[in-house]
Amino acid sequence: MSDKLGLLSKDALAKYRSELADKGTVLIAPETLFTKEELTRIDQLQSDIPEEEVRKGDAGDSHNVFVKRVRLDHAGRNPSNVSGTASAQIIELLERTERVSALRKIFGASSEYVIRRCQIHRMPPGSFVGIHLDAESDPDFEYSVIVQLATDFEGGEFVVYPTDRKLQVFRPHLGTVLITTCRFRHEVRQVHAGERRSLVYFCSKYGGANRRIIENHAARA
Ligand SMILES: [Fe+2]
Repeated sequence: MSDKLGLLSKDALAKYRSELADKGTVLIAPETLFTKEELTRIDQLQSDIPEEEVRKGDAGDSHNVFVKRVRLDHAGRNPSNVSGTASAQIIELLERTERVSALRKIFGASSEYVIRRCQIHRMPPGSFVGIHLDAESDPDFEYSVIVQLATDFEGGEFVVYPTDRKLQVFRPHLGTVLITTCRFRHEVRQVHAGERRSLVYFCSKYGGANRRIIENHAARA
């Protein structure tokens, strides 16, 4: 990976780490964590993965997005890859030592992180992801990492609603990597033209079974 990139200098890592710690979200420049070739490879691999249309999130939030699952993280279970070579190859690419090490430095972590869930979002015109909190899918999610795979789209801004400051609007483009805490609500505004595609993965220090508790309304009624 970083043969071509040189990855991140210590100063750049420190800058990104302090911005993430301070604001809860940071936008990493293209060709920093992923080369162009890697992005092209991920975009090729994702085209082989079947997709589902998602209109409801884990907490009943509203979405309109096509999702291709790469690694699943269901309540009560350990994370597991979706079967198939495309998902295994994407995870292998994400877990390359140097990328994991750079991310860990940006997270400011003293221990290893695992990828608990990974998926591709395909968003043609009219798509959006409603306001939600990632930690409601898994209380152990700490950071989500969002890699932009497409360039020709309009709209689709990523909006974060921090609890301690004004909302932040990001306009990610091809190759940028957005890292955000799973403790702030956020949304993806409607895509107006073109197709927005992103790889999204969720990192945690905890690698065991998903500790989310699902309320069973039927049982309580
Ligand atoms: Fe999210």
